[in-house]
Amino acid sequence: MAGTRTFTMLKPDAVEDNNIGNILQMITDAGFKIVAMKLRKLTEDEAKEFYAVHKDRPFYGELVEYMTSGPIVAAVLEKENAVEDFRKLIGATNPAEAEEGTIRAKYAESIGRNAVHGSDSDENAKIEADFHFKPEEYVA
Ligand code: RTP
Ligand code: MG
Repeated sequence: MAGTRTFTMLKPDAVEDNNIGNILQMITDAGFKIVAMKLRKLTEDEAKEFYAVHKDRPFYGELVEYMTSGPIVAAVLEKENAVEDFRKLIGATNPAEAEEGTIRAKYAESIGRNAVHGSDSDENAKIEADFHFKPEEYVA
């Protein structure tokens, strides 16, 4: 069903700071159901491919280094209007601009180390979920 799933990653800073539980609590409190999830470290090639859309941006090298600096939690979330609602829940890319009560306002350190990823469209949610999960890794 279109529009009911999004993809997220709890980024290395969130894992390192022991915020996996806090952030998953915010996600489920907001009405998202976790339908697939794993903890793992991305390889450099995977991080490069995942963020390939930013390959010409000045922060790309730093972004790849950060995303491979420690384990991430990858998950697929289900809810009506999942992509848009999840972007609202995570807040602005720069935590200094993120609304109060958002995940990034609470747990992000900086624009470069911002705790969580959220897909920006239904199309990318599907591409990103397929990048991380095989069909048999879903519970529903
Ligand atoms: P994400 O894809 O991780 O959910 O983040 P986003 O949509 O809010 O932001 P995006 O523009 O897609 O940027 C991807 C990630 O690149 C890092 N970044 N660093 N130093 C900088 O100026 C800068 N700008 C972006 C952030 O980690 C951002 O989440
Ligand atoms: Mg993005």
